[in-house]
Amino acid sequence: MAQAGRASPGAWGRRCAGGDAAPVCAPWRWASALLWLAAAAAAAASGPSRRQWPVGAGRGLCPGRGVVRGRRSATLRARPLEVWRPGNPLAPSVGDLVCPLSSAWSVIRRIVVVWKRPTLSPRRFSFRPEPDPYCQAKYTFCPTGSPIPVMKDDDVIEVFRLQAPVWEFKYGDLLGHLKIMHDAIGFRSTLTEKNYTMEWYELFQLGNCTFPHLRPEMNAPFWCNQGAACFFEGIDDIHWKENGTLVLVATISGDIFNKMAKWVKQDNETGIYYETWTVQASPEKGAETWFESYDCSKFVLRTYKKLAELGADFKKIQTNYTRIFLYSGEPTYLGNETSVFGPTGNKTLALAIKRFYYPFKPHLSTKEFLLSLLEIFDAVIIHRQFYLFYNFEYWFLPMKFPFIKITYEEIPLPNRNRTLSCL
Ligand SMILES: *[C@@H]1O[C@H](CO)[C@@H](O)[C@H](O)[C@H]1NC(C)=O
Ligand SMILES: *[C@@H]1O[C@H](CO)[C@@H](O)[C@H](O)[C@H]1NC(C)=O
Ligand SMILES: *[C@@H]1O[C@H](CO)[C@@H](O)[C@H](O)[C@H]1NC(C)=O
Ligand SMILES: *[C@@H]1O[C@H](CO)[C@@H](O)[C@H](O)[C@H]1NC(C)=O
Ligand SMILES: *[C@@H]1O[C@H](CO)[C@@H](O)[C@H](O)[C@H]1NC(C)=O
Ligand SMILES: *[C@@H]1O[C@H](CO)[C@@H](O)[C@H](O)[C@H]1NC(C)=O
Ligand SMILES: *[C@@H]1O[C@H](CO)[C@@H](O)[C@H](O)[C@H]1NC(C)=O
Ligand SMILES: *[C@@H]1O[C@H](CO)[C@@H](O)[C@H](O)[C@H]1NC(C)=O
Repeated sequence: MAQAGRASPGAWGRRCAGGDAAPVCAPWRWASALLWLAAAAAAAASGPSRRQWPVGAGRGLCPGRGVVRGRRSATLRARPLEVWRPGNPLAPSVGDLVCPLSSAWSVIRRIVVVWKRPTLSPRRFSFRPEPDPYCQAKYTFCPTGSPIPVMKDDDVIEVFRLQAPVWEFKYGDLLGHLKIMHDAIGFRSTLTEKNYTMEWYELFQLGNCTFPHLRPEMNAPFWCNQGAACFFEGIDDIHWKENGTLVLVATISGDIFNKMAKWVKQDNETGIYYETWTVQASPEKGAETWFESYDCSKFVLRTYKKLAELGADFKKIQTNYTRIFLYSGEPTYLGNETSVFGPTGNKTLALAIKRFYYPFKPHLSTKEFLLSLLEIFDAVIIHRQFYLFYNFEYWFLPMKFPFIKITYEEIPLPNRNRTLSCL
């Protein structure tokens, strides 16, 4: 277990940077940085272009297919159990009903929910399918993983916030300055003195989770976008501390840890697909969020929330996280794989989506990728278009300034269970 932290491939292609020459992963990281810089440059240049993407889309895209509002509420109604809204602060929770005061609050919030359009969150699935054999990991997922141990109920477990830049070794300052961070959680048992790392990341690296493969033998774009939790013994102190964070955030009982472990198992079985982007109407506070991401930091945030629900008391420290935003006007629903790319699908639309993804191929060499960046800017910034794949459905995003942004903002640690504060 000695090599735990390092042996794990790490999220966002962290491992790629560590290993020698991994052109497959490198481009993505450059891409994030460059896209961001380009967005900034475009901002400076300003002058919104009204040109349209040559094939389809834009204003005339899929007339009559309905916009996100109608479709989304339809989605929510039709599949209530599949749509899961973890990050939505407006989602009523059981704890609210316990205290009369917060019960009233919950009624108010329900009313607000009606007014505010719901954010689309990743769907929950009933089980995790085997990845398609076409998807081959360059670096094995979770090579030193182990089952989560059962702790003695009266053990005292320290919980650590772990964060480190994804750039490591190769791209040093560039991504460091952009604060592209990977998040994980550490645990240390007082009784056994053993410590553990828990993280959630892509099975086939970020590029594969963000953009599909265009396979000649298949009409539809093909995705290798699973993500999962990895638990292993050991905390690589140097890795986290040197350019990142290793800090105690809470102390919990073995009992709480065991309950959390049960939840992790279930979370891991039902939340399967990585989502890189958070899509919002604008960078302003309170702007509408169209789509939530589902990545390593979301897992850490979910786990903290669960621990708080189970009774953990978190320290008051500032905790910032990396988020990758797309800014867009109201998204338009296009259809699922079958309805867009199947025999009855709109061929023009299918072609437009494939053309859009072409320059984003997840396995280009660095050089090819840099060349295709021009095409990416063309699509995203000049033509203001983005085709998003979310919950196995395609959406059109009419992109808005500032198009793409990487932020490193605070998301506070959770408060202790509200139920307890009423007793
Ligand atoms: C097919 O898609 C194109 C572009 O997305 C659109 O302009 C056209 O109206 C669509 N055709 C039909 C029959 O929906
Ligand atoms: C904390 O709140 C959740 C719901 O919000 C509730 O199910 C749980 O029983 C509470 N836990 C404790 C220890 O009070
Ligand atoms: C992305 O997926 C392709 C297809 O399975 C695979 O060949 C490639 O190695 C993957 N990339 C990484 C970095 O794992
Ligand atoms: C989560 O699921 C993946 C894929 O099935 C598996 O490899 C991993 O061990 C699981 N993680 C945990 C913590 O159970
Ligand atoms: C985890 O355990 C290793 C090996 O015993 C030790 O070197 C390291 O300092 C521990 N880290 C934490 C955060 O407890
Ligand atoms: C921390 O960053 C420096 C340079 O920016 C790099 O040389 C070093 O390897 C990094 N440390 C770790 C543990 O990744
Ligand atoms: C795709 O959409 C069509 C029509 O909207 C629907 O009938 C079908 O069940 C959907 N397929 C999947 C796999 O969701
Ligand atoms: C952390 O987030 C806060 C608020 O979002 C921000 O003011 C602060 O500058 C961030 N810290 C760093 C190191 O970026």
